[in-house]
Amino acid sequence: MMPRHFLTTKDWTRDELERLLEAAARFKRGEDESQPLAGRSAALVFFNPSLRTRASMQVGVYELGGNSVVLEPGGTSWTLEHRENVVMDGNKTEHVAEFVRVLGRYCALIGVRTFAPLQDWRAERLDPILNAFARYSEVPLVNLESAMHHPCQALADMMTIREKLGAGRRRVVLAWAWHPKPLPMAVPNSFALAAAQLGHELVIAHPPGYELDDELIGEINSRAFDAGANVTVTNDIDEACDGAQVVYAKSWGSRMFYGAPEDDIEERAPYRGQWIIDEAKMRRTNSGIFMHCLPVRRNVIVTDAVIDSPASVVIDEAENRLHVQKAIMAKLIRAEGGGRRDE
Ligand code: CP
Repeated sequence: MMPRHFLTTKDWTRDELERLLEAAARFKRGEDESQPLAGRSAALVFFNPSLRTRASMQVGVYELGGNSVVLEPGGTSWTLEHRENVVMDGNKTEHVAEFVRVLGRYCALIGVRTFAPLQDWRAERLDPILNAFARYSEVPLVNLESAMHHPCQALADMMTIREKLGAGRRRVVLAWAWHPKPLPMAVPNSFALAAAQLGHELVIAHPPGYELDDELIGEINSRAFDAGANVTVTNDIDEACDGAQVVYAKSWGSRMFYGAPEDDIEERAPYRGQWIIDEAKMRRTNSGIFMHCLPVRRNVIVTDAVIDSPASVVIDEAENRLHVQKAIMAKLIRAEGGGRRDE
């Protein structure tokens, strides 16, 4: 039996996501003090930097009674090869095949962060490193942001919308923002997918050339249809903000320019100062809240006036990472027969 993983919300039904949100709310209110990781450990593997994910996972593992083992391949642990059938005569010391199965003998759960290097769109859109971990892992795996998905962030985002605006359908705008360099698509992908799964009216606003993955957009449309909701894609950021109840800002790179960042930088240059969330755009909303996954560049993605306003919920959004990740870990551990109580 392969363990159940949390790699993308796509693999979880709407009902299951709703139950995770309820479990997260119970952790947040202090109503659930269970410790399904008591006496056990979780490995947290970081190929890339992190503040929120690393801190909230370490605190979450501790609060669930467990111990966390943080590893940084190429830093505090060996460099890792993930490709199959390669002759490892280059600069990679260990293969994921051994790394993951060895960790599974020590730890009840593995979390992994592995960003897209933005070099090869066709390869990276398939999430090769995350999938190599999943191929070999004999214990539950939690995606802590991969090339294409950041499902823990998306679940915290959904929890925050529910907390601030109540349950039910909201007009939610995912707004591309100018940034001096191309960034991965994991956050916008996962936000849009989860918003569609939970039945929000989703508007995706980006300049021409910054489309999300076609197959993912198909999945987002299909999940929205199942939930009785609509998805709109627009190139007009001002119009997108009209009547919005949530403005979620995020920058991402164009898939046309993976491997050529200087071309993307040139392409996006005209959008500086235009694709930024400022007071004028927030005035167009329906008392909308401002969201961002953080870290955020002030006065680049969002003005000080907006992020410091009462409409900004970014700190609560970051806090909710802790609660949803506890809910996810507890669910995965209990599904494996661990912990004292099932939900
Ligand atoms: N939002 C988020 O994942 O933050 P970190 O990159 O700091 O973990």
